Amino acid sequence: MAKLYPIAGQINPDRFRVVGGARLAGDVYISGAKNSVLKLMAVSLLAPGNSTINNVPDIADVSMMAELLEQLGCKISRDFESKSITIDVPETPGYRAEYESVRKLRASINVLGPLVARLGKAEVALPGGDAIGSRGLDFHTKGLISLGAETYNEHGYIIASAANGLTGTQIELEFPSVGATENIMSAAVLASGVTTLENAAREPDIVDIGNFLIAMGADIQGLGTSTITITGVKSLKGATHTAISDRIVTGTWAFAAVMTLGDISIHGARPEHLELPLEKLVSAGAVITSIADGIRVKMDRRPTAIDVATLPYPGFPTDLQPFVITLNAIAEGDSLVTENVFEGRFMFVNELLRLGAKIRVDGHHASITGIKELSSAPVVASDIRAGAGLVLAGLVSDGLTFIEGGHHIDRGYPDFAQQLQGLGADVTRVD
Ligand code: UD1
Repeated sequence: MAKLYPIAGQINPDRFRVVGGARLAGDVYISGAKNSVLKLMAVSLLAPGNSTINNVPDIADVSMMAELLEQLGCKISRDFESKSITIDVPETPGYRAEYESVRKLRASINVLGPLVARLGKAEVALPGGDAIGSRGLDFHTKGLISLGAETYNEHGYIIASAANGLTGTQIELEFPSVGATENIMSAAVLASGVTTLENAAREPDIVDIGNFLIAMGADIQGLGTSTITITGVKSLKGATHTAISDRIVTGTWAFAAVMTLGDISIHGARPEHLELPLEKLVSAGAVITSIADGIRVKMDRRPTAIDVATLPYPGFPTDLQPFVITLNAIAEGDSLVTENVFEGRFMFVNELLRLGAKIRVDGHHASITGIKELSSAPVVASDIRAGAGLVLAGLVSDGLTFIEGGHHIDRGYPDFAQQLQGLGADVTRVD
């Protein structure tokens, strides 16, 4: 059984119990983006002393990253009230990130670049994370090799060394990988000379991490574009930074409103980070309006099915794909969803089939024929987003749905069951 991590000091029972037929209405508040906060924590390793991150969500992954940083010698103080975390980094942090801390968290690979840049060596266990298909690290290691490091794999660890430091160079990624862009950028900030990273990822998380590095004293140009230019500096200092709000959690609530014919005001949403998903929801029939601090998503009729192909940002995010499939499963009409980023991301479709959905998967395409209502059954969550998608599927089913594997959902969604209750749903955690 997976080790369960506390949320606000409590360990939740692992199963969600969802009563179907809810119409979600009310307010939700979005906190910092998981995929930004975890990396902000990792890059704090680049400077000795205190770095503080604000807008930290109360999710299990933050506890896991904190555990990894503690293992590397950092002192962590976390304030749940003010949603901040302060990381006190020692003059010489440890260079070996052990398997026990790394295995559950894909983002733990983000300590690799900072450790090599700062210490000239790193040993990082190959990470785990979500079951969404093979997730190579070759772009990360090739980038570090271009910067002058030596790397090899041994006994499940990536061993990297750069005894004479790193040197700036020109690097072109084969694919705009989020993690590789982050690792290369956070290594190049302490390299000597200029690094040009072409075909870089453009996700808002990358811009956020780059801005934190700039606050620490780094020289980075071109964030949010495909070419990032980094001029190395001798050293960095700790900084304070407020993480951007979570566009995937925002998208989850927007899909939840549309699926349940609901009306949700999403406070703290940044619609400019979700242009394509929101456009798609409008074509499904949603009415989306601006409110003072976010957006309101309202739906009055059965959604129309939408065709979607996932792509790197600003394309449609792969992390919202499970919600598209779930929406299409109960929408009017036929649809085609194409997954271009992670080949294993359709695994959860088998669980939706158990709920009566009409979906046919062929390679990286899923054809869906919408039906009026799903048919409740016990299902199993295999990753964060699929898990949240199955909870929403339970809400549009005809009875009682149990979703096993709630700890996956805890990794990305603060208080998911409580928030759903606040919107009028009958959702609880049970043993
Ligand atoms: C991050 C996010 C994940 C999101 C994904 C794409 C975190 C912790 N996770 O994952 O939620 O779905 O971005 O937006 O931030 N690849 C290689 N070799 C590499 C690196 C990647 O082949 O060295 C492949 C992957 O297998 C995948 C594709 O490139 O098919 C994209 O992966 P990448 O953008 O790196 O995603 P992650 O950073 O792992």
